[in-house]
Amino acid sequence: MKLRRFATQELATVYVAAMVESLITRESHPVLGLATGATPVRLYDRLVEFHQQGLSFAHVTTINLDEYVGLPATHPQSYRRFMHEHLFDRIDIPLAQTYVPDGMAINIDDECERYDAVLDTYPIDLQILGIGRNGHIGFNEPDISLKTRTHVIDLTEDTIKANARFFPDVNRVPTRAITMGIQSILQAKAIILMAFGSDKADAVRRALSGEVSTEVPASFLQMHPNVTFVLDEEAAQQLQTGQLLQASEWSRPHPW
Ligand code: PGA
Repeated sequence: MKLRRFATQELATVYVAAMVESLITRESHPVLGLATGATPVRLYDRLVEFHQQGLSFAHVTTINLDEYVGLPATHPQSYRRFMHEHLFDRIDIPLAQTYVPDGMAINIDDECERYDAVLDTYPIDLQILGIGRNGHIGFNEPDISLKTRTHVIDLTEDTIKANARFFPDVNRVPTRAITMGIQSILQAKAIILMAFGSDKADAVRRALSGEVSTEVPASFLQMHPNVTFVLDEEAAQQLQTGQLLQASEWSRPHPW
């Protein structure tokens, strides 16, 4: 486990963008696991800037974590549309190399199986994650058990409330989503979790508590050999010195 704390989100996102560049310039067929939400928006802006300065994504495959059930790809709040607006339409990645679950699939179970097959075909080199205020990663919500592979999940009230900021009102927020499972996330060769702002501080503290609990899905990341938590000061504010040191002690170099 590696922990990197930055004074500002801007600095933190430049750091992550540089890690992404490092991967995609070294690998001939890099696979990026991508996230949506407010947290990675600046990261995608930085990657677009890098692209404008010559960085190509033509050989990159991307696999997104999740998608709302019931929103077509054209819906302003669908995660497919989010990815197009913030990244795909602004870089040179062929769209056939971009994977997002289909929230409108007629048979959702088949769609989950199809997504697992994609994950088996394209093992993720670097997974970018945000974290929910409740400790979720992807849409793996706190529960008495967690699912390993791609599945449909009922979103918790907290997540629906948190995501209502993107919708005209809370009643329009979809209540179900398709998400990669915990095992699929942990199979990524390297993982970067980004968390910014004081409303993430409690989730970050619990994710790094030294205990693993299905009530804090992000805590499972402690078991992965190559995870970096990239935080701003506010998201790191509840971490104790001991926790910071312990997190850094687990540090291992990235494989690329
Ligand atoms: P956010 O969401 O980036 O919009 O805060 C993160 C998440 O819920 O995983």
